[in-house]
Amino acid sequence: MAMHNFISVEDVSDIPAMIQQALVYKHQPLLNQQLGAGKRIGLLFLNPSLRTRLSTQIAARNLGMEAIVFNVDKEGWALEFEEGAIMSGSTVEHIKDAGPVLGQYFDILCIRTFPSLMNKEDDYSEMFIRQFVKYAGVPVISLESATLHPLQSFADLITITETMQQQAWPATRKPKVVLTWAPHIKPLPQCVANSFAQWVNAWGKAEFVITHPEDYELDTRFTQGATITHAQEDALRDADFVYVKNWSTYTDYGKVYENDPAWMLTEEKLSITRNAGVMHCLPVRRNIELSDEVLDGTHSLVTRQAGNRVWAAQAVLAEILKQQ
Ligand code: CP
Repeated sequence: MAMHNFISVEDVSDIPAMIQQALVYKHQPLLNQQLGAGKRIGLLFLNPSLRTRLSTQIAARNLGMEAIVFNVDKEGWALEFEEGAIMSGSTVEHIKDAGPVLGQYFDILCIRTFPSLMNKEDDYSEMFIRQFVKYAGVPVISLESATLHPLQSFADLITITETMQQQAWPATRKPKVVLTWAPHIKPLPQCVANSFAQWVNAWGKAEFVITHPEDYELDTRFTQGATITHAQEDALRDADFVYVKNWSTYTDYGKVYENDPAWMLTEEKLSITRNAGVMHCLPVRRNIELSDEVLDGTHSLVTRQAGNRVWAAQAVLAEILKQQ
């Protein structure tokens, strides 16, 4: 299947092949430095970012592309996404008008949006990104949407695969991968957790367990296939990889019901794992989501994970460029 857009794991036909391609780029960043020559990529941000904006720019540069970043939320006209809107409010320009213009300027368009966390139906309809796909007329890459963060999840699987390769992992043993909820000071989107679950399930090469307090169930569209438990200790036992992430409630949408600090991952908790690698997408609230001792210790894979964002973006861009 040729890749046109990159919005979710459903746009990827062969996950292991994409992971291997990303790892090839990690060792040979300039292997395809002519692939994007003369092409321009636009990175539109409606929300802040450190890793996503920088790693995607580096990836584009490695492929010979020119990258332009546009902080739409601060520097652009306020965009309207509703079809048929009577624009008497704060929005100034409709995506119907802005989208085709952006499609004239760029060969690939990348968009970051966040959910409102106010209205589940609106957020889970993914209207913003769908409207960009509809009106831009060029391939669209999600830099995180209302419900998913596919470039992050792809980098996460690259990190797990790379770590397993370095440990000469036995071909017959599936790694136990655990996604654990963590406390936070404010309601966060479910994007990273949804997306990680979707990618691990689609990858199919792990024993996958999700653990969270009661009332923090995720959308079953993404979690189906995982074992789900409220007992964090049971989940952590014999884990090979532990992914730490906070998310707000999905069912009674966007709330923080319980914020028990006992859910924070510590070195002591890791003692029942198989010397697990600890993952987090960053940014992380130290000593709220994850303890200093874990983040600064030998278990932490977070810097490798963030580094791998470059190779994830580069593999995706290359796949789309090959179709152009
Ligand atoms: N993990 C991640 O997407 O980081 P940024 O928000 O800094 O891009």
